[in-house]
Amino acid sequence: MEPGSPRPKTRKGAGSTPSVPLQASRGHVLQRGRKLYEGKWKILYETQDAGLLIQRFKDAPMVGPIPPRAKLPRRGAMKNQISAALFALLQKNGISSHFVEVVGERDMLVRRLEMIRLEVVLRNIAAGSLAKRLGMEVGTPLPAPVLEFFYKSDALGDPLLNEDHVRTLGLATSEDLKAIRETTLRANGILLPFFAEREILLADFKVEFGRHKGAFLLGDDLTPDGCRFWDRTTRESLGKDRGRRSPAREAAAYHEIFRRVCA
Ligand code: C5P
Repeated sequence: MEPGSPRPKTRKGAGSTPSVPLQASRGHVLQRGRKLYEGKWKILYETQDAGLLIQRFKDAPMVGPIPPRAKLPRRGAMKNQISAALFALLQKNGISSHFVEVVGERDMLVRRLEMIRLEVVLRNIAAGSLAKRLGMEVGTPLPAPVLEFFYKSDALGDPLLNEDHVRTLGLATSEDLKAIRETTLRANGILLPFFAEREILLADFKVEFGRHKGAFLLGDDLTPDGCRFWDRTTRESLGKDRGRRSPAREAAAYHEIFRRVCA
């Protein structure tokens, strides 16, 4: 990707509705209802409880020709379990998210959020668009975590925003931004040692927030598709790296992350 070009998208699109059976959950049976949203990698379904949704992780994006890096068997199931494990870890450490519980191989029950149209990226090591934008060598450790906001807008190519832009667009108030900043930094403080124990460097990750009954909760997911993971020893990229590696190597790396996080 050249500097200034739109950041690669990991989500959004349209597709067909798969059939899902009734989901048993914490003593009550959940009926999968109307499809509320379909993105590139995820589908959200209503349930009979207005405050709860089923988030389904897809194995492959959309319909039509599928790019080679997207052909990863069991991607949806791995994303479901990795995301559940990381949300549970954060919850245990006082950071709330929309995650309620896993209710199927590729399905998790989540709280319905009013999403804030921001991608919040936290970086520990220079990589990706930051390395290009600032002309930094990929792999340079950052003296302190760097937080960035990107506007979720397909039409504009998800531009980088500063806090004045966020307020000007009415996406979040100063108070909201303070809460988002604090929560994301705290999440980093929990995730960094968790991954370090598994010999993984967390170079950067992306989170999204939503409002639920007046509170801010983490939404979306936490998976190798939204994070940069490197092996601590080899400093080899684990998980996604924007198509620079072969699909087979990427699949092996994805399975390796899954093994280290969920085993
Ligand atoms: O491309 P960039 O370096 O800005 O990405 C920073 C982080 O945000 C990476 O971990 C990447 O996986 C994630 N990201 C994402 N969805 C996007 C763009 C970036 O999850 N649309």
